Amino acid sequence: MRGEIRFLLNGRRVTLNNIRPDQTLLDYLRLERRLTGTKEGCAEGDCGACTVLVGRLAGDSLVYETVNTCIRFMGSLDACHVVTIEHLKRPDGGLHPVQRAMVEFHGSQCGFCTPGFVMALYGLWMQQPRPSIQAIEKAIQGNLCRCTGYEPIVRAAQAISDYGDPGGDLLAVERADVVAELKAIKDGRRVEIGSGKERLIVPANADDLATVLEAEPKATIVAGSTDVGLWVTKFMRDIAPVVFIGGIDELRSVATDENGTLTIGALVSYSDAYAVLADHIPAFGQLIDRIGGEQVRNMGTIGGNVANGSPIGDTPPALIALDASLTLRKGGTRRTIPLEDFFIAYGKQDRQPGEFVEAIHIPLPDKDTHFAVWKISKRRDEDITAVLGAFALKLAADGTVGSIRIAYGGMAAMPKRAMAVEAALTGKPWTAETVEAALSFYETDFAPISDARASAAYRMLTAKNLLRRLHLQTTQGANRLTVSRYEAA
Ligand SMILES: Cc1cc2nc3c(=O)[nH]c(=O)nc-3n(C[C@H](O)[C@H](O)[C@H](O)COP(=O)(O)OP(=O)(O)OC[C@H]3O[C@@H](n4cnc5c(N)ncnc54)[C@H](O)[C@@H]3O)c2cc1C
Ligand code: FES
Ligand code: FES
Repeated sequence: MRGEIRFLLNGRRVTLNNIRPDQTLLDYLRLERRLTGTKEGCAEGDCGACTVLVGRLAGDSLVYETVNTCIRFMGSLDACHVVTIEHLKRPDGGLHPVQRAMVEFHGSQCGFCTPGFVMALYGLWMQQPRPSIQAIEKAIQGNLCRCTGYEPIVRAAQAISDYGDPGGDLLAVERADVVAELKAIKDGRRVEIGSGKERLIVPANADDLATVLEAEPKATIVAGSTDVGLWVTKFMRDIAPVVFIGGIDELRSVATDENGTLTIGALVSYSDAYAVLADHIPAFGQLIDRIGGEQVRNMGTIGGNVANGSPIGDTPPALIALDASLTLRKGGTRRTIPLEDFFIAYGKQDRQPGEFVEAIHIPLPDKDTHFAVWKISKRRDEDITAVLGAFALKLAADGTVGSIRIAYGGMAAMPKRAMAVEAALTGKPWTAETVEAALSFYETDFAPISDARASAAYRMLTAKNLLRRLHLQTTQGANRLTVSRYEAA
């Protein structure tokens, strides 16, 4: 056991034994290190002003990702490399290629958002020196600018490689040394800091996590902290003691078995899940692109989305429509349940004290299954769902509905299947008349509420219209099954 966390900050090792369980990286950088280039805008992961890069080991390689420091806790940084805007300064005091491009293309006015944009573009440039406009838009989806406007910033992003080569960048040159240092830090020991309730624990591995949670069943589990971060910064909740699980590599695996079931470890982030989901289930990939911004997708996990149990979490309805199941572990005991049974009531999930979500299993749809998912929100980017409908439809050879699974978010106190609607459709001819006749069963399945995002009437009408949309798309061209990037939801 170790009583300190160790990480690199701008290439230099930091060792801390006195951090609070809810201490954010943003506060540490600005208040303790006076690295004030990293800004605080919203403190809830929305604006990107606080963006830095965090490098972590992935096997033998080093992955740098943008994160929001305002909702990233210090306890999650063991064996990571934190890179702030200050690290971009050249030895001669000159500007970094990303900064030069931003200056040349007038990408900054008041400058408050600028460090966040620079870090977001830096992360992109290292992976894609000549990115497409779509890649640029995706990379800065989680960065807000209120005065310059985005066009000059996009133009700057396209031109960064005119000012330098990522191969010669400091993070590329020092890569081998950083990998060696992070491997040395990652010594396979549990980290515990603080005492009594004010404790934070970083388990050494999944078995250790199981042991820790049996001893501390009331501790707050923190994965990507994109939900829990806001409990602290917005609701001032006391979350101690905290168990940080984000560094447990075993829970980050993705595998497909011989039966065509895709198993995603609870700690797989949206960014890591994107490629495999977009490949196997394209509509699911498009849904992930609509979750938060890039920083949130780099931090947030599918396991956290499920475990959180929000009625407007985006992945549960899609996973329920796909008939996914969930493995939970407590100590050495595991149980696997259908995902839909996990959600019991508002804020209540079938998770025992000391139990954690280990993996999600998704039966990949066969070629005859039409899968569609549509997220309806006020903005296309970085917005929370008003209504989300997910459908897995299989037609029989005679054109009747062989099977259909329908699940919604935003329509009930939890993610929920439309069982009465499904029953009204199953075995019937897949026609507009059948669909219209089934619509009345939505009132049996759902009694949505009105809130700031949508009225109950809007939700009900929209949910019904999504079924109509599924019908139109399956009968008027398979290529219309998925929503295009620029199509208004
Ligand atoms: C700016 C912003 C935009 C967002 N946009 C969206 C969006 O568009 N759609 C959407 O659905 N969500 C959105 N979210 C919410 C959030 O990103 C997701 O719910 C995310 O998947 C949570 O994962 P996490 O790893 O960050 O969870 P955490 O915040 O670490 O944890 C969430 C909850 O799950 C529990 N938990 C986590 N992992 C486990 C585990 N393995 N076992 C047991 N319990 C566990 C925690 O104790 C906590 O109760 C957004 C959040 C932010 C800040
Ligand atoms: S301060 Fe706005 S995302 Fe962190
Ligand atoms: S330059 Fe002022 S907010 Fe972007």
